[in-house]
Amino acid sequence: MSERIRAPRGTYDVLPEDALAREGLQATARGILERAGYARIETPTFEATELFARGVGESTDVVQKEMYTFPDEGVTLRPEGTAPVCRAYLEHGMHKLPQPVKLWYLGAYFRRERPQQGRFRQFWQLGAEAIGSDDPAVDAESILLLAEILEAIAARGLRLRISSLGTPETRAQYREELQAYLRTHEDRLSREVRDRIELNPLRAFDADHPGTQQVMRAAPLLLDRLAPEDREHFETVTGLLDTAGLAYEVDATLVRGLDYYTRTVFEFTSDALGAQSGVGGGGRYDGLMEQIGGAPAPGMGWAAGVERMLLASTPPPTAPAPLDLYVAYAKPEHQAEAFRLAADARRAGHAARVELGGRSLKGQLKQADRAGARYVAILGDEGTSLKDMETGEQREVDTSTVMHYVGRAPL
Ligand code: HAM
Repeated sequence: MSERIRAPRGTYDVLPEDALAREGLQATARGILERAGYARIETPTFEATELFARGVGESTDVVQKEMYTFPDEGVTLRPEGTAPVCRAYLEHGMHKLPQPVKLWYLGAYFRRERPQQGRFRQFWQLGAEAIGSDDPAVDAESILLLAEILEAIAARGLRLRISSLGTPETRAQYREELQAYLRTHEDRLSREVRDRIELNPLRAFDADHPGTQQVMRAAPLLLDRLAPEDREHFETVTGLLDTAGLAYEVDATLVRGLDYYTRTVFEFTSDALGAQSGVGGGGRYDGLMEQIGGAPAPGMGWAAGVERMLLASTPPPTAPAPLDLYVAYAKPEHQAEAFRLAADARRAGHAARVELGGRSLKGQLKQADRAGARYVAILGDEGTSLKDMETGEQREVDTSTVMHYVGRAPL
């Protein structure tokens, strides 16, 4: 026998029992988002590599080492959904619609990361973007919606952290200040952080390395350097979250892995997850449209990992799908008629199954019972009998009338 082929590393199969929980999550999220005026969008699974290089940022881990790229075609499997949604906004002239345009999505994303608990190479994201308004109420509403979804799926051990990154100008100035600070403490930093002082000094806040962490405790904070209008924006966002009664922590060291953020950034973590505790996060990206070649338009949104949401939540008990009719037959010569009866019943809108495994009549009746069938029709030499599995009553009927009983009052 040749070697068995398995699913690629970092991928997984959604088996029928898992599919129910995923569908439940989707229905919950859709209800919450659509009640707030979000409409669904889906973009292609791959995009021009340039979109992510420019949108997500050349210096990010995502672009530098995690993308599945096909160089010959100049395309990349999408590692995230914000840049593609912004591309679609531009491509379809959505600036002409009433702003903000609110869009949500749910699909597969790809990052070549080291697989571990809660971290996959193909994972699913639920996301929501509101484009075209820089009103801080957009930020607060967006965060509240993710909080509402996580609450609705009973996600455990949640924590919300929030911060502001200000504008690119403030950030550039702060970056220089931070770089100067890091250089003066270079000898205590991890090699990786040292190598990235020029490219991405902010990542130093994210480091696991103890020496670096110690240095970062006394580092200057961007949140203390915000321009007055950005500070005010941030205070309005947190004020609105207070009004809504949502608990959060302001964390000035919150770092997101993508470069497009301006002003608000936030992240939900769950202590029910292991090392990969980020359930969902996002923020404002007021400069992204211009980076990908469009007219300026502010945006705010988030994405949450479906696997992590499901891992952190307690799935509701699921009931098996109801079965109205099971068609059993005594001998092979009744198979065609049984087959047709089941097909007719389905066409009439009933859930109906017929024996497909060549079981004996006894075996078929066992199957019908196991599947929780409401009625069982048994086709035999003496005609057709219909059994009501709830009352146990059985009667002889004409095959053509079986369907009239199904879905009606008990026999
Ligand atoms: P992100 O933080 O990179 O943000 O990803 C969002 C969420 O996707 C994470 O919190 C995590 O739950 C999940 N996730 C990310 N990578 C993996 C992985 N390898 N395996 C499993 N789950 C993963 C974004 O992608 C931004 N586009 C969010 C956003 C939308 N910002 C503004 N709008």
